[in-house]
Amino acid sequence: MAVYDGALGLVAHRVYTQTDLHEVWGGVVPELASRDHVRRLLPMVRAVLAEAGSGPQDLHGIAYTAGPGLIGALLVGALVGSSLSMAWGLPAVGIHHLEGHLLAPRLEADPPAFPYLALLVSGGHTMIVDVAGVGDYRVLGESLDDAAGEAFDKTAKLLGLAYPGGAKLAQLAEQGRPGIYKFPRPMLDRPGFDFSFSGLKTAARLALQAAGEDPGARADLARGFEEAVVDTLVTKVARALEATGRQVVVVAGGVGANRRLRARLSEMAARVGARAAYPRPEFCTDNAAMIAYAGHARLAAGEHSVGGPLARARWALCELRPPGADRAT
Ligand code: KG4
Ligand code: ZN
Repeated sequence: MAVYDGALGLVAHRVYTQTDLHEVWGGVVPELASRDHVRRLLPMVRAVLAEAGSGPQDLHGIAYTAGPGLIGALLVGALVGSSLSMAWGLPAVGIHHLEGHLLAPRLEADPPAFPYLALLVSGGHTMIVDVAGVGDYRVLGESLDDAAGEAFDKTAKLLGLAYPGGAKLAQLAEQGRPGIYKFPRPMLDRPGFDFSFSGLKTAARLALQAAGEDPGARADLARGFEEAVVDTLVTKVARALEATGRQVVVVAGGVGANRRLRARLSEMAARVGARAAYPRPEFCTDNAAMIAYAGHARLAAGEHSVGGPLARARWALCELRPPGADRAT
């Protein structure tokens, strides 16, 4: 939950994470996620409004995540958002989750100006997107199988790390030696900007089996895996910068919190005379601030959601239009 002000910027924001709930099960259990949303949402709305020193009378609209994703959890947020909009007499707008991620770097000081390239790397998506403006997105390439975050999480699981293991794998990799494990760099031999990470995960599994009980192998393997993912992502982004002539690349999504990825991207950007911009790590992973930012852009253009589905499990990014293009979505 977040409060965003067009003049002041982000006024208050809070993330409630369900990681503990899902860790027990080794993944997200949709029904548990939805039920937990029901319990948490209204107290959270009260707490963040209090923190912002605002009441409903100070708000101009309500934005909620309308998709894509787990429909049960989405519906809880959409219903709370639309109910509050009715009760408080405010317009509401449903936001595309990935639009939030793509715009998150603009929450920071010295925000990147449009147009820019975005490397969107999360648990569900791996994409290079050309962002010409709010709602003006062109997907240049994406993963044909596992998302980068998914590959991190699955490999972390093989290494015995708890879900979601991406950040834990990155920590383990810090203790590993570079170059001991040389994993493939999938799809680099092919033109275009698509990715594939499922083979890499299999290579990691086979290497782990071969390593047997060697105590140092896990850290070396984590390091080799991380290097391979980061190398693949950075090489494709470099190619996309060259092909489009864009001067700025931003990173979005949970894997964007990865320190090695940030360091390598910055190095590459400097080498080709471009700039790399990042949201702070807490705005890389899922958060309400990015949804409030996108919502503000759309509500300010007079857009609001009326009729139609409240939430959508599937929703292609290319269906989006700039704010106000079709006022009621
Ligand atoms: O964007 P996000 O919070 O949720 C989705 O929309 O998927 O991304 C979560 C993903 C998880 O796969 C998690 O393991 C990964 O981001 N992640 C990381 C790091 N921090 C989070 N992966 C690699 N290194 C990290 N430091
Ligand atoms: Zn996300």
